[in-house]
Amino acid sequence: MSLCNFRVFDSPEAAARVLASEVGELIRSRAGEGRQVVLGLATGNTPLPFYRELARLHREEGLSFSNVTTFNLDEYLGLPREHAESYWTFMHRNLLDHIDVPAGNVNLPSGTVPEADIPAHCADYEARIREAGGLDFQLLGIGRTGHIGFNEPGSPKDSRTRRIHLDEITRQDAAPAFGGIGNVPTHAVTMGCGTILEARRIVLLAWGSKKASIVREALRGPVNDQVSASFLQEHPNAVFYLDREAAAELI
Ligand code: PGA
Repeated sequence: MSLCNFRVFDSPEAAARVLASEVGELIRSRAGEGRQVVLGLATGNTPLPFYRELARLHREEGLSFSNVTTFNLDEYLGLPREHAESYWTFMHRNLLDHIDVPAGNVNLPSGTVPEADIPAHCADYEARIREAGGLDFQLLGIGRTGHIGFNEPGSPKDSRTRRIHLDEITRQDAAPAFGGIGNVPTHAVTMGCGTILEARRIVLLAWGSKKASIVREALRGPVNDQVSASFLQEHPNAVFYLDREAAAELI
């Protein structure tokens, strides 16, 4: 029996408003107690309406992120921070440049750590999440391979932050942004499934008909490492926020 539920919204923007309000409330209530909030963040097209709404709440409604620490799920290996397609650049362009998270509270894996240092870099990333108090909230998208973060098929449930070889489907989906598949990195550093599943609350977003079949597999299919999002079925506080198209095979 799956513990994981889903909610269907009229549009990505409608879902984004509800989620941003929920996260905004968490930030405000923690600020009222003089406490930090640790947010796990995601990249891709899916979170963009959510990030636009967070930026609006900051700009128009005075929501401060001064008590927020962020950890991103992943980063492409081989891309320096300033590369146009790095997740560092993505996060700054789409969210961080528009809100007031202190720069020292922003964490992403490095895309340029020398290969020999990757295990230590990943262990350090895990340690920083632990020292921050763990992830209060983790935002996820879902790839057509069923990946969360870059946990491609075969990623164990207890996997931790590590180097991963990107699935061909994932690289094809990224090819237009990179101007051809030959420019898409072959590897990334990603939080593991185990890292993600330790978050106290998880919200996975998915929009559009292209995600409908993998959303059904993740929520209704067997829990196994061929679809890493299926592990969310066993999380006590995970939910999928979907538009009608992405939910089409569930209802
Ligand atoms: P997308 O990517 O948001 O660009 O669809 C999702 C993912 O691969 O996790």
